[in-house]
Amino acid sequence: MQKLEVTGGKKLEGEVTISGAKNSSLPILISSLLTDQKLVLHNIPHLNDVSSMITLLRELNVDITMHENISLTTQADNVTSWTAPYDIVRTMRASIMVIAPCLARFGKAIVSLPGGCLIGSRPIDMHLSGLEAMGAKCFIKEGYIHCSAPKGLKGATVSFDNKTVTGTENILMAATLAKGTTTIKNAACEPEIVDLANCLIKMGAQIQGQGTETIQVDGVKKLGGAEHTIMPDRIESGTFLAAATATRGHIRIKNTNHKYLKNVISKLKLAGAEITCKEDWIELDMKGKRPKAVNIKTAPYPKFPTDMQAQFMAINSIADGNSKVQETVFENRFMHIDEMKRMGADITIDNNCAFIKGVKSLSGAEVIASDLRASASLIISALVAEGTSNINRVYHIDRGYEFIEEKMQRLGANIVRKID
Ligand code: EPZ
Repeated sequence: MQKLEVTGGKKLEGEVTISGAKNSSLPILISSLLTDQKLVLHNIPHLNDVSSMITLLRELNVDITMHENISLTTQADNVTSWTAPYDIVRTMRASIMVIAPCLARFGKAIVSLPGGCLIGSRPIDMHLSGLEAMGAKCFIKEGYIHCSAPKGLKGATVSFDNKTVTGTENILMAATLAKGTTTIKNAACEPEIVDLANCLIKMGAQIQGQGTETIQVDGVKKLGGAEHTIMPDRIESGTFLAAATATRGHIRIKNTNHKYLKNVISKLKLAGAEITCKEDWIELDMKGKRPKAVNIKTAPYPKFPTDMQAQFMAINSIADGNSKVQETVFENRFMHIDEMKRMGADITIDNNCAFIKGVKSLSGAEVIASDLRASASLIISALVAEGTSNINRVYHIDRGYEFIEEKMQRLGANIVRKID
């Protein structure tokens, strides 16, 4: 097992380059199944989840050629399977999105039920009801979802009861090849959905309204090839900004886009950060000051992202003052709190709210990562703690952060990867 050994007390200072977005790369890789032509993708991050997705697509016989560093070419002109097996889906929920292109192009899909994960049960009822509204027949047998649409999918109005990111992406991809027009109501508005839509439009899809709560898709007979550059990862960007805030540092993050981080940036400014935003970089300077406590309530985009909740909890744990963090998206996304308390954080939980009393300092400890963003919050806590911490089960963080220790080292952090 690998772990990260972190010795705290260093301010983060310097520049870091942000990688391509995980939550954009995954659906866009899946969209390669929608065409028999080549997709050329750039700015693909080196992440375990991306490697898992490439493995899955290759199991369906999609040809994927990696180019130097961060580009690849896909071609799905000889797909021989439309089954996403349990061992891949259980480790990466985004795999369930293969249902849409397989149904739309081949009329069938067999995908393992993803099961829950530590942050919540994460059902996919909205995905399936949307596909059934488009004429798919779905049933569950022995832990797998079997979907068929022998006559192809038909355009429909799909109204989501609640915002679902991958649910919106699933229906969006299905609708591109459906017969007729699909209108998605109460669609999620995350920038990664817009990135996917922009790639699909380059492939010949007829899409309007991406990024708003109503998306309209006019189905076409075939989609062609395209070349697309993945957008920067806004959560990686926010994570480094949070780490610099907690350590009272001064950093510049490059290859990012501040317009995707408006809510996060305004909260960091409330914490006392001086922030400058330009076209593709953001500079944050704490002037060596202790951050102020800030209340947070997570909600679907453009409100404060749930994927930044744990990282902000780390800031609040050592901030000047008391704060409340309310998690409204997932039912169990406080797994990081027990581990932070082992480092001396003063946090109490009441249902989906956490109440934090800022302490002057944390102390290094042996902690266990539970999920991707919790791991990031433990790194931030360890960076400010006195002494040394060991963050175990670091595979969680490798799912969503490229070269995390190298990037942190370049900012002055005392962090090394160890193998137990
Ligand atoms: C996406 O997950 C992201 N993953 C998550 O990022 C992110 O936390 C989440 O959206 C919310 O922003 C990818 O894009 C690959 P949802 P997704 O469907 O689509 C419930 C990370 O850290 N729901 O928007 O799975 C669900 O249980 C990951 O990068 C249903 O009840 O999330 C949750 O409570 C973690 N039925 C809420 O909706 C459904 O059919 C939002 O889930 C679908 C969802």
